[in-house]
Amino acid sequence: MTEPGDKGAGRVFVKTYGCQMNERDSEAIAALLVRAGYTLAADEAGADIVIVNTCSVREKAEDKAIGKLRLISSARNRRGRIVGAVGCMVQRLGGAATARVKGLDFAVGPHRLHTLPAVIEAVRAGRGPIIDAGDPEEDREPLTDHLPGGPTAFVNILLGCDRYCTYCIVPHVRGREWSRPGASVLREVEALAGQGVREVTLLGQSVMSYGRTNAVWPADAVSPRGFTEPLPRLLEAVAAVPGLRRIRFTSGHPVGCSAELGRAMAEVPGVCDHLHLPVQSGSDRVLKRMHRGYTAADYLAAVARLRAAVPTLALTSDIIVGFPGETQEDFEQTQALMEAAQFDNVYIFKYSPREGTPAARWADDVPDDEKMRRNHVLLRDQDRLGLALNQALVGTTVAVLAEGPSLRNTARWAGRTTTNKIVIFEPRPGLRAGDIVSVQIDRAAAQTLYGPLADGHVA
Ligand code: 5AD
Ligand code: SF4
Repeated sequence: MTEPGDKGAGRVFVKTYGCQMNERDSEAIAALLVRAGYTLAADEAGADIVIVNTCSVREKAEDKAIGKLRLISSARNRRGRIVGAVGCMVQRLGGAATARVKGLDFAVGPHRLHTLPAVIEAVRAGRGPIIDAGDPEEDREPLTDHLPGGPTAFVNILLGCDRYCTYCIVPHVRGREWSRPGASVLREVEALAGQGVREVTLLGQSVMSYGRTNAVWPADAVSPRGFTEPLPRLLEAVAAVPGLRRIRFTSGHPVGCSAELGRAMAEVPGVCDHLHLPVQSGSDRVLKRMHRGYTAADYLAAVARLRAAVPTLALTSDIIVGFPGETQEDFEQTQALMEAAQFDNVYIFKYSPREGTPAARWADDVPDDEKMRRNHVLLRDQDRLGLALNQALVGTTVAVLAEGPSLRNTARWAGRTTTNKIVIFEPRPGLRAGDIVSVQIDRAAAQTLYGPLADGHVA
């Protein structure tokens, strides 16, 4: 991206693994370093500084990041570059992260990202390697830097997680739950809308716990619609920000699917008709051992509550196969739940024991090939279910927030419906990212919808 002879502090490339929170952190790091005088490289080959943002949620995610770090920091590929790791794996492993990658220049945990400009300076001055995993309970206000440009943005509203599901490393690496004050979230969203952002996704590991462990509104603040719960109040306040067209929030938990949240999703303009609501399993026995805090029936009741308020609600979910003790019968209950819930899309994961979690002390007794088989069966089931839901949209006209040229074929554009479905269409001249257009759906795949622009209706 930069020209030879560029006088900036250096060219940075950030490679991201893991969830949307990591994507958000990577963007914030990039923006922070640009502010400090660095430029962004298009790929690692063109970078002087490569930062790998790591994920710890499954062993495979860690292995991938370690493999990447080893590859770029090897003598053969190094070419004088500074190589560092950030994110959850650093928090989990601390100094051991550097032991696993020879020649790593720095390792900085998720709560210490604001120190990166100083850390890189210090490495350049020969004071590396620098290890700063940090304390997940400290430095709670997240970075609020954003890169200019796109029509959509992520905004952190809730850090950490207190749910302690028995398989999950997240509470151990991201610390205890802490909610950002509403005013601070609003400042960030107002700045984004001022830069041309049209859609924000409010992020939290368990976003419906927003405002549960610390107050986020002044005692005398009132909600115009009379909401009393913190998340509906935030959705209402964010929707009032001028210029913003759409609001999403993720990830959900059935316990938070209150009637008031349903009302907010139905009544607050711009709140999207989509929810990512991880179920993890359809077996009550497994759910109990996972410490999820609901039964399959509770989950379906939560879904029914929201669908009563928003009949067009699209639902996506996460499922783990091969949790310790999961029998064929438990697995079939997950298949049945998928059928009952009618998910639009599902992410399926093979259980991976994480050291330090309760489940890691139980026998990982579903063999890997059986986990693989269950994974494939669910993928096939979901392809069928998702395709049927998408095919029902053929012949309808949907509103799409245009995001930009499609990655596969740049002559076409991609965008999303309020239900978070990807739509591919031919742009018309003058179309800008962030415009909302009408697309007549004439073809559907399990993950994507296609069709021509309908006349008029460009907003
Ligand atoms: N093994 C497999 N999948 C996991 N997830 C979280 N922890 C594990 C684990 N130990 C999945 C859950 C979660 C998603 C982000 O990752 O389904 O919702
Ligand atoms: Fe995100 Fe969890 Fe992975 Fe960290 S460990 S990047 S919080 S999914």
